[in-house]
Amino acid sequence: MRFLLLFTLFVLSAAPAAANPVREAAPRSPAAIEAAVGKLLGRMTLKEKIGQLHFPSLAFPHEPQIEAVRRGEIGAMLNVVDPRYIKAFAAAARDSRLGIPMLYAIDAIYALKITFPPPLAWAATWRPDLAERASYEVAREARAVGVNWTFAPMVDVSRDPRWGRVIEGAGEDAFLASAFSAARVSGYRRGGLATSVKHFVGYGAPEGGRDYTGTEISTPELLDRYLPPFKAALEAGSETVMASFNTINGVPVTMNRALVTDLLKKQLGFDGFVTSDFVAIGELVNHGVARDLEEASVLAFKAGIDFDMASGGYDLYLARAVADGRIKMAAIDDAVRRVLRVKYRLGLFDQTAADFDGLPRAVDEVAVRQSAREVALESFVLLKNENAALPLTSATGTIALIGTSADSAQHDHSWWGPAGHQKPETETLRAALEKRMRPGQTLIFEPAFADPCGRELKDKAAAVAAAKRADVVVYNVIEDCEIQGEGVSRAKLTLSGRQQEMLDALAATGKPIVLVVETGRALVLADAERQVDAILIAWHPGTEGRTALAEVLTGEVSPSGKLPMTFPRSEGQIPISYNLLPTGRPFTGSRYTTGYVDEKQTPLYPFGHGLTYTTFAYDEIVLSEPKMTVRGEIDVDVTVRNTGSRAGSEVVQLYTRQLVASRSRPVKELRAFEKITLKPGESRTVRFRLKAKDLGFHDDAGRYLVEAAPYKVMAGGSSDTALATDFLITRE
Ligand code: BGC
Repeated sequence: MRFLLLFTLFVLSAAPAAANPVREAAPRSPAAIEAAVGKLLGRMTLKEKIGQLHFPSLAFPHEPQIEAVRRGEIGAMLNVVDPRYIKAFAAAARDSRLGIPMLYAIDAIYALKITFPPPLAWAATWRPDLAERASYEVAREARAVGVNWTFAPMVDVSRDPRWGRVIEGAGEDAFLASAFSAARVSGYRRGGLATSVKHFVGYGAPEGGRDYTGTEISTPELLDRYLPPFKAALEAGSETVMASFNTINGVPVTMNRALVTDLLKKQLGFDGFVTSDFVAIGELVNHGVARDLEEASVLAFKAGIDFDMASGGYDLYLARAVADGRIKMAAIDDAVRRVLRVKYRLGLFDQTAADFDGLPRAVDEVAVRQSAREVALESFVLLKNENAALPLTSATGTIALIGTSADSAQHDHSWWGPAGHQKPETETLRAALEKRMRPGQTLIFEPAFADPCGRELKDKAAAVAAAKRADVVVYNVIEDCEIQGEGVSRAKLTLSGRQQEMLDALAATGKPIVLVVETGRALVLADAERQVDAILIAWHPGTEGRTALAEVLTGEVSPSGKLPMTFPRSEGQIPISYNLLPTGRPFTGSRYTTGYVDEKQTPLYPFGHGLTYTTFAYDEIVLSEPKMTVRGEIDVDVTVRNTGSRAGSEVVQLYTRQLVASRSRPVKELRAFEKITLKPGESRTVRFRLKAKDLGFHDDAGRYLVEAAPYKVMAGGSSDTALATDFLITRE
């Protein structure tokens, strides 16, 4: 009887077509892919269809999951990076009735083995081409173990450094973030991965900077500030999109049909698939919008979330929802079609056992390290440099290097991907500096702290004594690696642990201090700034980063990074960004004008700021025409001169402001940038093209408007611009 029942179930669930695994010919053209997807879909059982729409939470041992793959019930896996298992999963998928290949997902973001600086540092290079290369290298490392889907790039614009995840994005500006979004998608894809641009949308604006909390975002804000980097990622071909955890205007994105289906799929024409974030479907219950996982799953699916990341609800409940009519089979088919489309586009149907036999493939580590070094070198931002404290020349006799982090290379914020477990060989800052000491120079090292993150002091007195013996102090501080990233928001952004206390003691010696700050966010450095001659933001520089740091500190390479996020003077200034709306009462210092009574109105360091070992003058800004029509274009020529005695790189930045508009417009918006290198005395004119169609904005109804109006265009080496001129946009 039991046997009969099983047999009956098998017959009922069997596919309309043959039961042998069939290898599809792998089509390439969009039309051929659509045809192949349709054909395959026609042969799938509901169980097999649902199998394509989820992966389970990672579990060991993998054997039961491998068997489920063989039954066609799982079409993807998360965090499997051991090639032995990937081979086993791939073999099971080939053995399954329809032989549909698998997606193997991890957060291959900036580290697999070799750790790059994190994406916020990539943005500080203002070199999207470098971000493309970094993404490509990370993707190749991931692909070499068999991974084919990355949960990157994160493109959430954020004006709130209290939010720990700013480390994963490109900072506060939509234009800069869009350039990096497109570059990263291209790079990961060139390296062989499908991307998942995340977290759609508005995750970077959690209230109070507290991770996962909701946000209120108006339509123009959403479309002008938060959406552009997602559009850029889609234009660059991102195959998948990850929905955000949080609520927007009271509705969790995981069940937000207006955003996921109407905006993303219909309006933006996205035809890949949308995944939930990790267990986010189950969390709809915590949001208080669903009674249980079943209701949550139906809500999410109906909103347009095609893929359930690890909540388990689609696997458990979608079939029942189809059976009782809560979900239509056509909707299931649409979701499955999206997943299969991505698998075809990735060429997975071409793969044979031979493609997995060679895993793990060798990766040219030298090339990866070279890219990691280059990104690090270009990402360092010199915030302050007085009394020529940097670079450390041969005239600097004794250098006291203080900070346990300077003698450790194992504290990078690199836990995305398996890099957290397999640290590659890394030079320490101490070793890298020692190598560069010239005759007559001495490096004294004192750790000061019991741990690399400066939580506990160990020997403050020895560090102070070292400082007293030195001509210059290089103090290496780090934002504790455990207090940044996901789920880690901070209310206080000053130096973490006991590091400020140590700085106070060093400053009391009166010796010049170079502060080297490793961080994944903008910090509040107002106290530190008063105590030191130089501040170099090194982000978390990664596997090659300490070598790069020594190169920059000793002047072999000049720093050339610029801030992708404003550094506030105090936490009370947050949220903060350069592109604020004007107010009716601009700050004048008198009462009843905008501002704080107990804080300066300016940030400590503005967006776009960054010095180098030479200086630049902005000589001239010239327009090709004083006006253009709403469909027109003009050229803006900005002439920059190296006024120092060393060669150096500068990021020339162009901003505009619409002076009169139908709604209040930001005082400045970044429109273009270019990093150039000039020899001493050299002058260059950089030509930017301004297109009227790019200068518009959205209204409350979501309409995009380019208005005939007077505008200002400004140029400089930071958002605190040096040059400006006016132009007009006319109707005709
Ligand atoms: C994060 C995502 C990440 C996912 C899978 C979530 O907690 O928000 O960014 O891709 O986990 O690791």
